[in-house]
Amino acid sequence: KSLVVAIDGPSGSGKSSVSREAARQLHAAYLDTGAMYRAVTWHCLAEGVDLGDGAAVEHAARTIELGISTKPDHESMTVGGKDVTDAIREPRVSEAVSAVATTLGARSELIRRQRQIIADSGHRIVAEGRDITTVVAPDAEVRILLTASEAARLRRRGDQLGGTQTEAQLQAQVLGRDTKDSTVVNFHQAADGVVTVDSSELDFEQTITAVLDVVRT
Ligand code: CDP
Repeated sequence: KSLVVAIDGPSGSGKSSVSREAARQLHAAYLDTGAMYRAVTWHCLAEGVDLGDGAAVEHAARTIELGISTKPDHESMTVGGKDVTDAIREPRVSEAVSAVATTLGARSELIRRQRQIIADSGHRIVAEGRDITTVVAPDAEVRILLTASEAARLRRRGDQLGGTQTEAQLQAQVLGRDTKDSTVVNFHQAADGVVTVDSSELDFEQTITAVLDVVRT
């Protein structure tokens, strides 16, 4: 039976780790759509593609060979056969990724690929990102917006980066990227029929429980 769980949310909401664990517990596949935007960005940086040139970025999105693992226990991303699993998490990629995310031609190509991955999973998948509940899979059986207060999001992202950043650096990175991303996708407000889970006051386990509760109702 088809079970597509769509989860959207801003940076630092805990989306990725929560979605991955929910997929494990549901014996479903897992799709991190942000990793695909990061992979295109990594490729453009590596190949010297001008991120300000929309046509060139779209061409890159359409032509690169992306290999993404949808096993919740195995994180892996390849571009043209090269393993970029760690490279796509580098700060230089995080800083540049909004340029790809705001290139509409690149978005439509990645949305097409994401829908194909959902179909290939047999429609048994937890897919997370910014526009899954609204654009990629608006007909998903379960649609969740995972939110958290700004303070909670900054704290989590800081912990994730190992406390190497000052408060001001974190703010610039996380909120700066949100502002840029918000020009093309609205992930701050739940669309009709989308259930909001606010994780500000919840720990990891409690957030998983809250998400699985929505799946089971
Ligand atoms: O690092 P973080 O978890 O905040 O972000 P991510 O999920 O890895 O996504 C990285 C970037 O990809 C976002 O900042 C967006 O620019 C873009 N993205 C998007 O536009 N639409 C999606 N469905 C997923 C990600």
